[in-house]
Amino acid sequence: MSESYDVVIIGGGPGGYNCAIRAGQLGLKVACVEMRGKLGGTCLNVGCIPSKALLHASEMFETASTQFAAMGIKTGGIELDLPAMMQQKSDAVDGLTKGIEFLFKKNGVDYIRGKGRIAGAGTVEVEGEDGPKTLSAKHIVIATGSEVTPLPGVEIDEERVVSSTGALELDKVPGKLILIGAGVIGLELGSVWRRLGAEVTVIEYLDRILPGMDTELAKTAQRTFAKQGIEFRLGHKVTGVDKSDPATLKVSIEPSAGGESETLEADTVLVAIGRRPYTEGLGLETVGIEADARGFISNEHFRTSAENVWVIGDTTHGPMLAHKAEDEGVACAERIAGKAGHVNYGIIPGVVYTAPEIASVGKTEDELKAEGRAYKKGKFPFQANSRARTNHTTDGFIKILADAETDEILGAHMIGAHVGEMIGEICLAMEFQAASEDVARTCHPHPTLTEAVRQAAMGVEGWTMQA
Ligand code: NAI
Repeated sequence: MSESYDVVIIGGGPGGYNCAIRAGQLGLKVACVEMRGKLGGTCLNVGCIPSKALLHASEMFETASTQFAAMGIKTGGIELDLPAMMQQKSDAVDGLTKGIEFLFKKNGVDYIRGKGRIAGAGTVEVEGEDGPKTLSAKHIVIATGSEVTPLPGVEIDEERVVSSTGALELDKVPGKLILIGAGVIGLELGSVWRRLGAEVTVIEYLDRILPGMDTELAKTAQRTFAKQGIEFRLGHKVTGVDKSDPATLKVSIEPSAGGESETLEADTVLVAIGRRPYTEGLGLETVGIEADARGFISNEHFRTSAENVWVIGDTTHGPMLAHKAEDEGVACAERIAGKAGHVNYGIIPGVVYTAPEIASVGKTEDELKAEGRAYKKGKFPFQANSRARTNHTTDGFIKILADAETDEILGAHMIGAHVGEMIGEICLAMEFQAASEDVARTCHPHPTLTEAVRQAAMGVEGWTMQA
C-alpha cells in the first residue's frame, strides 16, 4: 500500500528541508526523502557548515599565534590539536542536523530515509534501509542539489586528491597543497589549511580570481590573500595529476592559452572547479523532463515541464547557494499551497568566508558598464573606521553603487572583517528600493564596522565625512 501526500520532496538540503517546513506550516501533508542518512544536504554535512567551523577555528589559531602577543596576551606557545578541531566541526554539524529533524516533527513533516526516484506522474519510489516504499504525491519537488564537477585526467580519491568533502576531513596538515580553481571553495579551504601551516598554491584557468564578482573586489582580495602567503598561478590549467609516487603528487599545468607545461609537486590536491546538478537515477524520463546539456532542469516559477513536478535549488538555474535554494523552497511551497511565492533574484547576496570576508549583492560595476547604465559610487576604506582600527582589521573597503539619476541602490561590494553580516543591511535596503541617501541618513551605532556602510553611502553623493 502506498502512502499519500500533498507534497513529496526529494532531497533534504537547504532547498528541500525549508520547502518541507514551509509546506508543513501551510497545512500540507508533506514528506521529505533523503538518502544521506542525515538531513541538511551538502551545505550542512560537507559544505557551508563544516567549512565555517574550520574557518572559525583556524582563524582563531592564526590570530592567537600571530596577534595575541601584540594585544598583551601571553599564551606560552600555541599548538594545533587537529583531531579536536575536527571534532568541534563534527559536533556543530551533528547538532544542526538533529535540529532539522526536530523542526520536521514540529511542523508535521515525515522524514523518509532512502533514495527517492520519480516513477511516473504522482509517484515516488524510495529505496530505503527497511526495503522499498512507494509514495503517492499530488506534487513532487525535485531538490536533489549538486555534486562536484570532475576534471578529466584528475581522479578524486578523497585522500590525496580531494574534493571539498575530503578537504574537510584531512587527518594531517599537508606540507604542500595545490588548489585547482580560485573560486569560493578554493579560497575558503585554501585559507583553512594555509592558516594551519600548509604551503598553498592556487591554479586558476582564468586571469582573475572569483569570476563573476566585482573586479575591484577580486583584485583587492587576491592582493590580500597573496600577502597572507597564498601563491596564485592565474591563466593556467591542470592537465593531469600523477599519483604513481606514493609520497608526492606530480601536478602537470600549462598556460590556459596553450604553451609549455610544467610539473608542480604537492602532498594534497583539491579540485574545486565548480559543481553540477545531481539528478542521477531520479527517473526524470518517467515524467518526460529533459535536463539541459549541463544537467540543469529549467523552471517557470519552480514548475518543470511535467505537471505538478517542481524544481528548486542547485538542480535548476541561478547561483548555487544555500540561501537561494532556501528562498526557492519557501516560495515553491507557497505556490503549491495556492499562494504567490516569489524570489527576488536581483538581491541574492554572495559571501566568501575568508579573512577578510568578501560580500556582494546586486549589480557589479562591470555589469552596469556593460548595460550602459549611469551610476554613482561611494567607497569607504576600513582603514578609516574606528572599530576596525581598534580590532586590528583594517584591510578592505565598502563600495555602494547607485543609479546616477534616482539614487536607488543597485549593488554593494565589500571586503573586510564581518562584511558577510553587514551585507544584509544593503539587501534589506534594496528590497525597499532605498536610495543611497536613505542609508547615509540612517543613524548607525558608534563605534561599529557598520559605520563604514553609512560612510560609503554618503560617498555616493560625495559627502563622506570620515575619510
Ligand atoms: P566556483 O564556480 O566558485 O569556482 C571555480 C573556479 O575554477 C573558477 O574560478 C573557474 O574559472 C576555475 N576553473 C574551472 N575549470 C578549471 C580548470 N580546469 N583549471 C583551473 N581552474 C578552473 O566553484 P567552487 O569553488 O568549486 O564552488 C562550487 C559551488 O559552491 C559554487 O557555486 C559556489 O558558489 C558554491 N559555494 C559557495 C560558498 C559560499 O557561498 N561561501 C562556499 C563554497 C561553495
